[in-house]
Amino acid sequence: MQRILYISTARSDFDTAALDGILRASRRNNAAAGVTGLLLFGGRRFLQALEGPEPAVAGVFDRIARDPRHFAVVKLSRKTIETRMFGEWAMGYRPARTPGDSFETDDLRTIVERLVEPIDDVTLRAEFTSFAALHAAA
Ligand SMILES: Cc1cc2nc3c(=O)[nH]c(=O)nc-3n(C[C@H](O)[C@H](O)[C@H](O)COP(=O)(O)O)c2cc1C
Repeated sequence: MQRILYISTARSDFDTAALDGILRASRRNNAAAGVTGLLLFGGRRFLQALEGPEPAVAGVFDRIARDPRHFAVVKLSRKTIETRMFGEWAMGYRPARTPGDSFETDDLRTIVERLVEPIDDVTLRAEFTSFAALHAAA
């Protein structure tokens, strides 16, 4: 099996409905393809891990990379794995900022910490949490 980790930048503002649409499509398609992973959204950046049989991961990644809703898709790592880190699909995102609201900068960090808690691989967990720390401050 293989695991890909990539980062990308959202083309425009993503509200909860847009994120929910991606989450629904991901759950449906990834389950059918035997792909699991985690998608994080913080401000304008996405970080996603995809894992599963190599052709399935490559297929899902190619489709995602062509999605016009984001750009600057950069693969951070691609490695062969024996076991899955993510038993099921999960997704975290920073809530949209609305005018007049006080802005809690550690929202994303808190969400990510909860999401990455079950990840045994220290390096992978650190990749997610440092991403969250970086973008929660943006
Ligand atoms: C940041 C980001 C992550 C995405 N992740 C997935 C994913 O893991 N699986 C997936 O099938 N689609 C994902 N999508 C959506 C795909 O690009 C595409 O819209 C979708 O797979 C089309 O599915 P459908 O033909 O079933 O509607 C993602 C899109 C974005 C912008």
